[in-house]
Amino acid sequence: MTTETDATARFQALTADPRRRRDESTAMVEQYFTLTGDLYRESWGPHQHFPCYLPGQSREEATEAHVRDLADRAGLTAGSYVLDLCSGVGGPACTVAAHTGARVVGADLVAARVREAEDNARKRELDDKVSFRVADATALPFDDAVFTAAYSIQALCHVADKPRAHREVARVLRPGGVWTGYDWMRAAAAEADGIAEDICRAHGLPALATVDELRQDLTAAGFTDVHVSDGRDVGDWSPNWAQLEELVAQLPPRDELPPLLRMMTDGARALCTGARSGAFFIGHWHARRAEEGP
Ligand SMILES: C[S@@+](CC[C@H](N)C(=O)[O-])C[C@H]1O[C@@H](n2cnc3c(N)ncnc32)[C@H](O)[C@@H]1O
Repeated sequence: MTTETDATARFQALTADPRRRRDESTAMVEQYFTLTGDLYRESWGPHQHFPCYLPGQSREEATEAHVRDLADRAGLTAGSYVLDLCSGVGGPACTVAAHTGARVVGADLVAARVREAEDNARKRELDDKVSFRVADATALPFDDAVFTAAYSIQALCHVADKPRAHREVARVLRPGGVWTGYDWMRAAAAEADGIAEDICRAHGLPALATVDELRQDLTAAGFTDVHVSDGRDVGDWSPNWAQLEELVAQLPPRDELPPLLRMMTDGARALCTGARSGAFFIGHWHARRAEEGP
């Protein structure tokens, strides 16, 4: 067996058990991004999330516009000091800094991704505005009330203790600061259980939150003016699923794929099936840290 095959088998043994996905989420996330890092870099580049589309946009245009739109909705300006929670390899932080002039600090669990983010910021000559730290979203290495705003893009689904992550963001935000972003989420209906489980196993996710759970977590963490949606109010996500289906269709038959690619295409199929049935969606939230603590 090759090393990659061994590592994929270890990862799949871990993710098959929902309890282990929760209890060993740090190891799971590190394994997932070590396994998929090269493929993600080739296929996604520095922005590693699905964009929503406005009519006529290419994927590149949609990706940049989607992040700029998030920055505008959050009211970010050159005077902002912003946390990018689960910042990946830095594409969103660089786009936010270039678009608004804000200073952005990215926090990500995986050290190799933080180094890659630093390289990407240097290449875009944004390293005076953007910096990155290795940090767990549930135990942030920042003082209280330092940031004027925070956002996270399609990453909290990887965090086992989501209420704690929201509390940490509330702690490091100044009163009145905006907390906004996108996350992979699931419908509350029991019929969504099976597809949500398939998505979690293939992508190293402890669990997907529902709209009600996210709203509850935000409110309990001390956020006000809480808006949570299934993402349809922001734009059209469907081109992502059409592109994924096309990509999968171009690959050799499933049985001929190496285990990692088989797992990833199973995951892609589950996303497309879930998105088309409404069981899976990319949810959106926008909230404000209360002027007083929770
Ligand atoms: C799908 S990537 C998205 C990255 C980035 N937000 C983007 O849109 O390009 C999810 C990221 O979340 C990070 N992550 C997962 N769990 C984390 C945790 N507990 N604390 C901090 N980062 C975490 C992963 O390392 C990964 O870089």
